[in-house]
Amino acid sequence: MEKNIAVIRGDGSSPEFVRETLRVLDRIAEKYGHTFRYTEVAMGGDAIDKYGDPLPEAELQKCRESDSVLLGSVGGPKWDSLPGDKRPEKGLLRLRAGMGLYSNSRPAKIWKQLSDASPLKRSIVDQGIDFIIVRELTGGVYFGEHKTETVNGEEKANDDMVYTEHEIERIGRIAFETARKRRNKVTSVDKANVLDTSRLWRKVMHRLKEEYPDVAYEDMLVDNCAMQIVKNPAQFDVIVTENMFGDILSDEASMITGSIGMIPSSSLGEGTVGVYEPIHGSAPDLAGMDKVNPMACILSAAMMLRYSFAMAEEADDIERAVGKVLDLGFRTADNQSEGCTVLGTAAITDEILKQI
Ligand code: IPM
Ligand code: MG
Repeated sequence: MEKNIAVIRGDGSSPEFVRETLRVLDRIAEKYGHTFRYTEVAMGGDAIDKYGDPLPEAELQKCRESDSVLLGSVGGPKWDSLPGDKRPEKGLLRLRAGMGLYSNSRPAKIWKQLSDASPLKRSIVDQGIDFIIVRELTGGVYFGEHKTETVNGEEKANDDMVYTEHEIERIGRIAFETARKRRNKVTSVDKANVLDTSRLWRKVMHRLKEEYPDVAYEDMLVDNCAMQIVKNPAQFDVIVTENMFGDILSDEASMITGSIGMIPSSSLGEGTVGVYEPIHGSAPDLAGMDKVNPMACILSAAMMLRYSFAMAEEADDIERAVGKVLDLGFRTADNQSEGCTVLGTAAITDEILKQI
């Protein structure tokens, strides 16, 4: 197959792990007889430096025209003092909205080789951590009206949180369909004791669950969910929630796996064109040091092969190779433990390439 991949190399140490990920994709192309073409797209700090805009329309258009987007990570202290609209993160939000990517999947799965790295007690970890957060990505407070004004001599800020029925229903469907391919359980997370958007969320989810009688369903308040994730993570299969709750809970969920450097993500809309990115940041303090863990980005590329290109065997191949490299005791600095061999970004990728 021939595929056009838009590549956003990102900021900080991101260009290093994206570069290594492309080596893995090239190896897969060679082994399975595919052709992957890469189109460079500037976004975030890189685009601010080049064009004074975190995602110029022409760059967004390249992403829309691609078969999928591989994204590193954007942002860094250099751009931190810019106003909200000019910040690197704005590029990311525009990319999500501009491509209609309303469904963000973030798996929280512990790699058995790294279970000592989890901050949770061994007795909790051993019950298993393998769930997925399905986060609504183009609605809610992120995309409501934002306004700061002066009222009665003081500044007043306002961020509107908005949801419509169809926005809730389509993300709900993704959650139920995902659960059917896993362990058949959906936990819908909201704040229905306080928020109108959450009461609407719950109403739509309850309507929808009637269509999926084979899937176990429960409602959970977001504050309780934050507790349950550390108390008893084994209870979860698919968590579905709105944009900001998903942002917060997915960081918590990544933390309990012990290795944020291992977690990939996918963002999809109606078609098969998605954005695939590690959930960790651009680690600007590690830039240029050949230290950063490329695995989350490499595993994101595997997700791209699986979900956007229907290349399941190729995706399995990458995931198996990563597991094998961990089995062999190779680690990057973020995951180092006794008896392991610590390698740099490029050298650990060499090991992964050997296993493909
Ligand atoms: C994430 C990030 C982004 C978000 C930021 C960088 C805008 O935290 O992808 O989780 O809040 O969505
Ligand atoms: Mg976040």
